[in-house]
Amino acid sequence: NPPTHIKNEQVKPFTNTDTKDWDLLRASIMKFKSSSLEVPLVINGERIYYNNSNRSVFAQSNPACHKQVLANVTQATELDVKDAIQAAKEAKSKWYQLPFYDRAAVFLKAADLISTKYRYDMLAATMLGQGKNVYQAEIDCITELSDFFRFNVKYAHDLYNLQPVQSAQGVWNKAEYRPLEGFIYAVSPFNFTAIAANLIGAPALMGNTVIWKPSQSAALSNYLLLTVLEEAGLPKGVINFVPGDPILVTDQLLASKEFGGLHFTGSTQVFKQLYGKIQTGVVNGLYRDYPRIVGETGGKNFHLIHKSANIPNAVFSTIRGAFEFQGQKCSATSRLYIPQSKSEEFFRDLIGTLQQQKVTPVNTAASPISGGDLHGFMGPVIHEQSYNKLIKVIEEAKTDPELEIIYGGQYDKGEGWFVGPTIIKCKDPKHKFMTTEFFGPILSVYEYPDNKFSETCDLIDQTSMYGLTGSVFAKDREAINLADEKLKFSCGNFYINDKCTGAVVAQQWFGGARMSGTDDKSGGPSILNRFVSIRNTKENF
Ligand code: ALA
Repeated sequence: NPPTHIKNEQVKPFTNTDTKDWDLLRASIMKFKSSSLEVPLVINGERIYYNNSNRSVFAQSNPACHKQVLANVTQATELDVKDAIQAAKEAKSKWYQLPFYDRAAVFLKAADLISTKYRYDMLAATMLGQGKNVYQAEIDCITELSDFFRFNVKYAHDLYNLQPVQSAQGVWNKAEYRPLEGFIYAVSPFNFTAIAANLIGAPALMGNTVIWKPSQSAALSNYLLLTVLEEAGLPKGVINFVPGDPILVTDQLLASKEFGGLHFTGSTQVFKQLYGKIQTGVVNGLYRDYPRIVGETGGKNFHLIHKSANIPNAVFSTIRGAFEFQGQKCSATSRLYIPQSKSEEFFRDLIGTLQQQKVTPVNTAASPISGGDLHGFMGPVIHEQSYNKLIKVIEEAKTDPELEIIYGGQYDKGEGWFVGPTIIKCKDPKHKFMTTEFFGPILSVYEYPDNKFSETCDLIDQTSMYGLTGSVFAKDREAINLADEKLKFSCGNFYINDKCTGAVVAQQWFGGARMSGTDDKSGGPSILNRFVSIRNTKENF
């Protein structure tokens, strides 16, 4: 039947009275904390472990407690990558020839398993591995993840059924949504388990086979996701799981004639490199097709506050946009424009609220993973490299006379990789702190003269190398309309009186242009078109 009943999955609130939920969650957390999970490669359904082989291993540690190893992740060798290419090739025809509803059933069932039987394990793996509190994990690996699987099925169904080709009299025309030839290479980031699910799920649903390189720092939750898909009926070889050295895995896959497309979420820098390699491959006649390149990368996302704004709303939205998920979100608020006359009130409220909420994560006892306060507002950043990069930014801000840290600037790595929420005022709106993505809990601020709202819109646009998300806060409709018009190309997701994060599948199709990616919109229908190649048949009768 057409999937007409599909709705967004609801976040479980985990209130104090939900004792059964808490007990189940604690049991899952204890399970993953008590021993490191052995994470294998999965190629053609076969598990391959580093033990008793010449493969190396990566230790995925708990970012809130870096001594604790959560998973030993087997690393793919060149031979493994070759086997994955072969497995994806062999599984292909049987998979795409399955009736669409049989392919769809795998993803619908996986979504149901994740929101029921595996809910607590998925939450625990995402909380521990990716430093999230329970609410953030719910939004990620339960609701967004199952929404991706379910809405992709709905959108694919619509694509196949709602736009039939026309046929003149005596003619029968047919449009056939073939998968791409060759395999899809899915490269997923650490920060969202849901993103990984869509990176593999969207191409696979359309009949493609996939080679998946998960982030090493999210291997635990990502492997769990794969096992759920297998339980839901995913055939062998359709999604091949190859964690490993990014350069080794990527270079070999992009050098293969079988490479058919890239589905990527990660940094702008890496995406540019891959984009360049693929283009060189095309020019050199390496591939059969022009590979499809679908990528979503970084952002320097803005909140623009107008003098007519509801300040408490703008404050609350900015705290959530900038500091939730430790700012480790491509959509996170990372620059703020405030009218001079409102700045004092705005920051008094904002800093007061931050202090009241005891959000400083330097206190590990309040971290979401410690078993104490599972609702802690902020957790650790993902790993040592990320921590080092962020503290370098903070230290630079302390010495640059153009910059002033007006809140935070603390960090602590005693137990975990903790960086406190930090707000930095910039005198120059073109300073690199107003244009560079830091990917952490650091917000850059520029105070603009009240009568220069229009010029500030122009300034935001001119300094937007990225084009991912942005928000305007105003009650004045003319100001909203002006920002709407002037910021047309500065972001792919534009919010009015709301934070610039938290796109919901099917409600806010997500993605941006400029250096933020190919704007193919995850959580919307258009992305599915990128993973098909249409054959049109005309028959006279
Ligand atoms: N799609 C996520 C958001 O909008 C990253 O925040």
